[in-house]
Formats: sequence, C-alpha cells, structure tokens
Amino acid sequence: MSDQAKIYPVPEEFAAKANLTPEKYKEMYDASLADPEAFWGEQGKRLDWIKPYTKVKDVSWETGDLHIRWYADGELNVTANCIDRHLETRGDKTAFIWIGDNPNESHKVSYKELHAAVCRFANVLKKLGVKKGDRVTIYMPMILEAAYAMLACARIGAVHSVVFGGFSPEALAGRITDCESTVLITADEGVRGGRKVPLKVNADKAADLSNGMLKTMLVVKRTGAEINMVEGRDHWLHEAAEGVSSDCPPEPMNAEDPLFILYTSGSTGKPKGVLHTTGGYLVWASITHEYVFDLKEDDVYWCSADVGWVTGHSYIVYGPLANGTTTVMFEGIPTYPDASRFWQECDKHGVTIFYTAPTAIRSLMREGEDPVNATSRKSIRLLGTVGEPINPEAWEWYFHVVGEARCPIVDTWWQTETGATMMVPLPGTTDLKPGAASHPFFGIKPVLVDADGTQLPGATEGNLLITDSWPGQMRTVYGDHQRFIDTYFTAYPGNYFTGDGCRRDEDGFYWITGRVDDVINVSGHRMGTAEVESALVSHDAVAEAAVVGYPHDIKGQGIYAYVTLVQGVEPDEALRKNLVQHVRAEIGPIASPDLIQFAPGLPKTRSGKIMRRILRKIAENEFSNLGDTSTLAEPEVVDDLINNRQNRG
Ligand code: WTA
Repeated sequence: MSDQAKIYPVPEEFAAKANLTPEKYKEMYDASLADPEAFWGEQGKRLDWIKPYTKVKDVSWETGDLHIRWYADGELNVTANCIDRHLETRGDKTAFIWIGDNPNESHKVSYKELHAAVCRFANVLKKLGVKKGDRVTIYMPMILEAAYAMLACARIGAVHSVVFGGFSPEALAGRITDCESTVLITADEGVRGGRKVPLKVNADKAADLSNGMLKTMLVVKRTGAEINMVEGRDHWLHEAAEGVSSDCPPEPMNAEDPLFILYTSGSTGKPKGVLHTTGGYLVWASITHEYVFDLKEDDVYWCSADVGWVTGHSYIVYGPLANGTTTVMFEGIPTYPDASRFWQECDKHGVTIFYTAPTAIRSLMREGEDPVNATSRKSIRLLGTVGEPINPEAWEWYFHVVGEARCPIVDTWWQTETGATMMVPLPGTTDLKPGAASHPFFGIKPVLVDADGTQLPGATEGNLLITDSWPGQMRTVYGDHQRFIDTYFTAYPGNYFTGDGCRRDEDGFYWITGRVDDVINVSGHRMGTAEVESALVSHDAVAEAAVVGYPHDIKGQGIYAYVTLVQGVEPDEALRKNLVQHVRAEIGPIASPDLIQFAPGLPKTRSGKIMRRILRKIAENEFSNLGDTSTLAEPEVVDDLINNRQNRG
C-alpha cells in the first residue's frame, strides 16, 4: 500500500477540545526557530528555579570546542519541580497509579505520599553515604520503588543509571564499572507475565564481575523470595528506612549538573553512557509531554514502557510528574493473563491517554479483535507510539480497532540521545498519515542529506540531521567526550547526526525509514550488532561472527547471525541452542539471535572488511540483486551463504 493511500483528518470531536490548532503550532514553531533564546527563555519559566537563569543557550557544535549548555547559571532541583511545587494545589491528586502483574493488584499514590516516600528514600541513600555527584545504579522491576529511587537520587544530587531489569549480570556489571558506581538498588525478584525474574541473584553475580566496585546494595522486597544478603554490603530498604525522617530538603543543583546516565547501544563498541543534565532536560521532558499528549489536568496517562529505557524516564517519571499528571506504572506485559489486559486496565482506571510501542500493537493484533472489543475503552481520547517505525497495518488497527477512529495517534520519533520527542504529528495540528513521524517539535530543524552531506530539498530521502541544539539534548558520553563528538558531530560537521534515515514527502511530512548504521531495533529495543557479535565470538566454538537485522513480523527487526566456527567444531542444532543461550547470558534475552547461519566463510573485501550489505540482503531473503561483488576476496562464499540461508520467508 502506498503511504499516500490514506490521510486521516483530525477527528472532529478531538479537534474541538485540542490545546493546539494548526495555526498555533505554526506560530510557536516559527517563533522557536526565529529566536531560540526568547522562546526557550520563556519556556524555562515552566519550572521553579531556586536561582533564576540569566543565560538561556550557550552551545557550540564545532568539534574543536563542543559544548552544550542551557540555562547554565540557573539552579533548581528536579524533584522540587516534580513533587514539592504541586503539593499546595495537587497534594491529594494521584501522582502514580501502580498496576501489578497480577490483575488483582493495584494502588494509588498521591503527590503528598510521593513526597514522603521520595524524601524517606533520599534519607536512606544519605544514611548509606551517597553524596551529590555519586553514581547510583538502579536495577529494578516495574514497581514504584524504581521511580522513588530515581527521584531520591535527584533529590540529593546523585546521578542515577537505570539498567533494564532484563539485562544479564554481565551487562549490568559493564554498566556499573563504566560509570564507577559503588551503589546498586535492586529488588529480591521481579514479576512479569506470571514469571519471576531473579534480580538479586543477577545483582550478586554482577557484583562479583565488577572487580570490587560495588560497596553497597539496597534491596527492595517484592516477592519475599529467599535471597542471599551479604553482611556489611547489602541492606533491605524496609529495614534501612525504619525511623528515617520524611523530611529531606531538595539539593540545589546547577542546571548543567548531571541528572542521569542511561546506557544505549551504538554502531561500534560497548554501550555508551548517555548523559542528561538537570535544567534543559526537565524543560524538554515537560514541554514535550504537555504538547505531544494534549495534556489536561484530569488526564489519566499511561505510558507502557519500562523505566529501564529512556521512554520510561521521560514519559513515565519526569515529564508527567513535572506537569502534575496522574501517571500509570505497569508491572506486567500486554498479553498476561490475556491479550485484553491493556484495555481492561484502561477501563478500570479511566485511562485517557495511552502510549505504547508498535511491537506491542503487532503482538496484540495477532490475537484478533475480540480481546479489544470485549472492553469499552471509552475513556481513551489519545493514542501514542514510540520506539520504532510503525507499519501502516498496525497503525490502522490501533486507530480503528483500539481507538474506534476517535483518537488521534501521536507517532513520536526520538532517541535516548534527544531526551524526548523530536518529531510527531502534534494532536489537533495536522492530518494523520499512518506511519509518518510527520512534523518537527518546537525548536527542531530537521534536514536530509546525502552521504556527502549535501542538503536534499523537497520530496526526498536521506540521512536525518538536526541543525541546532534543543534543551534536552544529551551533553556527552559519560567519561568519553571524544566518543560523543565522533559519533554525532563528525560525519556532518556543524550538525547532529541521528543515525536514522528519513524521507520527506510532497506534503512535507517526515517518515523515519530506520537506522542507517549498524544498530538494529528489536521490539523497539536498540541493539548494536557489534555487541551481539562480540558476545558470539566470546564463545569457544566461534571463530568469527557477523550480525545483521532482517524484517520480523512482530519484533520489527529480528537478529540474524552468521557464525564461522573454529576448525574442527561441527555445526549442529545443539550448538545453535548453546550459542543463543550464550548470548542471553552475555547480554540478556532481548539480544537472542532469531536465526543463526553457520557459514564456512564470510564475504570480505580484499582488505579484509566484511561486506555487510551482502549479508543484509541474504538475511532479508532478497539476494537476487546483490550489487557489485567483484571486489570480494572469495566470491564463491556468497553462493554457500545463499544456499544455506535461514530466512526463506
Ligand atoms: C527508532 C527510543 C520511527 C529510531 C525513544 C531511533 C523510531 C531509535 C521512532 C532510538 C518512531 C524511535 N518512528 N523510528 N516513532 N521512535 N525510533 O534510543 O531508529 O531506544 O534512532 O529511543 O529508535 O531508540 P532509543
């Protein structure tokens, strides 16, 4: 189906009450580009500042002097903005609705209760010796203590690094040592889809792998499982919190003090510690949350992401709380106990805004319409997606079946690096095209270029760059500023390179086409092919490995691994299983190869460079046009790869 086949106008009922109109969007967008200082100077006032800023933007993207500072002489505290300032008018308003994995479990926490919980947690951290600037690793299930832990760090000026609870001990250890974090907050176990996740066991293994880096573990009791507590190192939260005061004044932070580190995968090497700071990030999380979701005071807002990813940071915790919203935190998965779960909970809690990932939509779509139709969903007025391009079929299903053609869909394109939404069809301002990220947010100027950096005008396709800074931009790669410069600012000097390909259509809508680097997007999770390769090569039987993505019905992209075995090892099914298991142990289940092809040789240039283009084509089962193979050292390996390809779909 051509993407031009369908255009949906803003549903009338929605447009009548929308916060923005097409005219208002244009006016604000034009103003944001014409005078960023004035626009962001004004927008900074959405926060309470302990010491007001006098400077707004101080940015250079010149590689010799690269710095990014916003509101640089201002002082504030993130939790004072996310909690304290709401107490007077919203003290009894629900801040969090927590929904358990078990459908019979849920509870609400008011802003007042949130304040007490976060202050007490912050005092526990202080008692354990955590100080301003210290890095604290958080490895938690989706329970409220995960949010309390993040906010408690922000309260006292510690820098949190949340590691997704699905990562392996190896991956956790790598993230602990990279940022020299001596404190880990975890839980005895997590619960997802009726299954237990052994977080403390994993944390203990990670501690062993961290060369003595970890000095303190704070453990939340979730299931009450038998776990091992190490004397002097491990503390139960409920014990450490006994008798601790719920009064903890917010630490005044400079706008450019770090708020958090979040590790994400890139084309090469180990995951990068993306660093976000205090003032600009919160302005950006707050303004995008307000406009992207057409926010109203009585909204019940549900983002189904995990706090282990940036979406959970910006759109479960910081954005919604900065705006005084009622935000849902869900422990479970979309298909447990059954495929109706999301919609049942929307009915039960009166959810008005629902934000999820295309992969979740595709997995529910497979179960048919009945589980959706069995629920009312009348409370929902706006739907959103994030994490990967949404295919038009899934968009249509979400729009018609879930939203009954009543709710606009905000398809939000952004990245861990960008802090929050960069492109989106802002609700009420634009017609909707299924699958299009559509238009830039305030302050964002996208350009499309060819490989040489030449700007491509009009309807075209190219690499997506952003031409100027925005307040929520990452500031550096933790501990490796040069890597930050090399990754984002060197290929196209003077611009931020997103790593994404993008198309602009005749109507000026932007369509993200996917990554143009060696990053793949598996179920909305970013995975570096180099990471999976290095996990495979660390197995004794493997001599060489090359990993590429291929189209996958549910996951968006699947992981396809070509593996060359060491001399004398025979390939068989047992080894294949063993390799998958090995990658799970090295990185985590999200990195499991979907298909492994044993290959006697990989296609290489005469200088020894693996020709990934060819491997991608074969993995996609699109090998009729492999392009120029004349530069290959051994052209015959290609025939073997084609004959033994694993994807014949
Ligand atoms: C992809 C997640 C198309 C994109 C917030 C980006 C998307 C990467 C969309 C970042 C979308 C995210 N449409 N592609 N709406 N949202 N992506 O850092 O390739 O986990 O570069 O951030 O996901 O993934 P990350």
